[in-house]
Amino acid sequence: MIILAIETSCDETGVALLEATGGIRKPQFRVLENLVASQVKIHAPFGGVVPNLAKREHIKNLPILFNRVMGHGPWAMSKVDLICVTVGPGLEPALWTGIGFAGELGKKYTIPVIGANHLEGHLYSFLLPRKQKAVHLKSKISNLKNGLKIENWKLIFPAVSLLVSGGHTILLLMQSLARWKKLGETRDDAVGEAFDKVARLLGFPYPGGPEIEDAAKRGRADAINFPRPMMRDKNYDFSFSGLKTAVLYRRREHPKEKIADAAASFQKAAIDVLVYKTIRAAKEFGARSVILSGGVAANKSLRRSLTKETRKNSLGFFAPDPAYNLDNAAMIGAAGYFAFLRKKRYKLSARGDLGI
Ligand code: KG4
Ligand code: ZN
Repeated sequence: MIILAIETSCDETGVALLEATGGIRKPQFRVLENLVASQVKIHAPFGGVVPNLAKREHIKNLPILFNRVMGHGPWAMSKVDLICVTVGPGLEPALWTGIGFAGELGKKYTIPVIGANHLEGHLYSFLLPRKQKAVHLKSKISNLKNGLKIENWKLIFPAVSLLVSGGHTILLLMQSLARWKKLGETRDDAVGEAFDKVARLLGFPYPGGPEIEDAAKRGRADAINFPRPMMRDKNYDFSFSGLKTAVLYRRREHPKEKIADAAASFQKAAIDVLVYKTIRAAKEFGARSVILSGGVAANKSLRRSLTKETRKNSLGFFAPDPAYNLDNAAMIGAAGYFAFLRKKRYKLSARGDLGI
């Protein structure tokens, strides 16, 4: 199945073309093209994403990316079997631009359009090929790299999946690619949001995650003993707003303290909570592996810490190729493929608060 996927839930415009085979039991994805137009620079002066600016940029970028993905002109659309578009969660004005664009393409080329859940996109992003090779549609069948091929799903499931992004912090127990249960989520700020807010109060630009990670390399993680909110609580929920406030008060009381130490200590506190609760869930539910996804999965300290702890506990560990941590359309193609197979039909209208 050749899938054209569109993502416009936040500040990245994404258009991807992928080939999906194998069904829900043996899925394999080949990413033919995966283009992302980032709006980071446009929103940075505002310290966060401005919905109407995002909408304007998506409207401008979508046709450009689409034309680049199709390269050889509209005739290639005759090979596309399905169009997938993010319907939520995200910023509704931004989501509508993608939904509208997908709808028009569907009508023009008479191709079915289905809605995809952005969170499911992150969830499935570990299945995308490890080393993405952008190849044109024309040459697609012959020389493409295979996606992640898993021969024995029993080595993975049940799995505990940690989804960490700018809008979400969710822990899931997955029985299979099609069945899961939410174990917990954040009660206030998402962990990516905490990185962004702490970065801001330390004087770094938006988005703060990569800035904090970078500064943390120059600091000592044990310099300041920040709280580990809810770490020892018996549930699987999270809370990061108190940690952010703790950084704020610390800065007020010790304005001369090294910023890099504050960044490193904050990062360590946040990662400790994520890793501790993920591993505890994996043990409690007899998981065979841990799956990591979302923008914060780009954080190398988090990856290292999970790699170490899963190894120690004889668990498998899966995380997407760095190309698919942040918002992209390839993962939306994967989510759309599974939604299509599972006959899960999302309404083609923006759902800002869509859950998983
Ligand atoms: O998944 P994503 O691209 O968008 C949402 O769906 O929210 O995630 C963006 C979030 C931002 O909060 C950003 O600061 C965070 O991911 N992030 C990071 C890193 N790179 C991005 N957080 C920590 N360390 C990073 N290296
Ligand atoms: Zn995302």
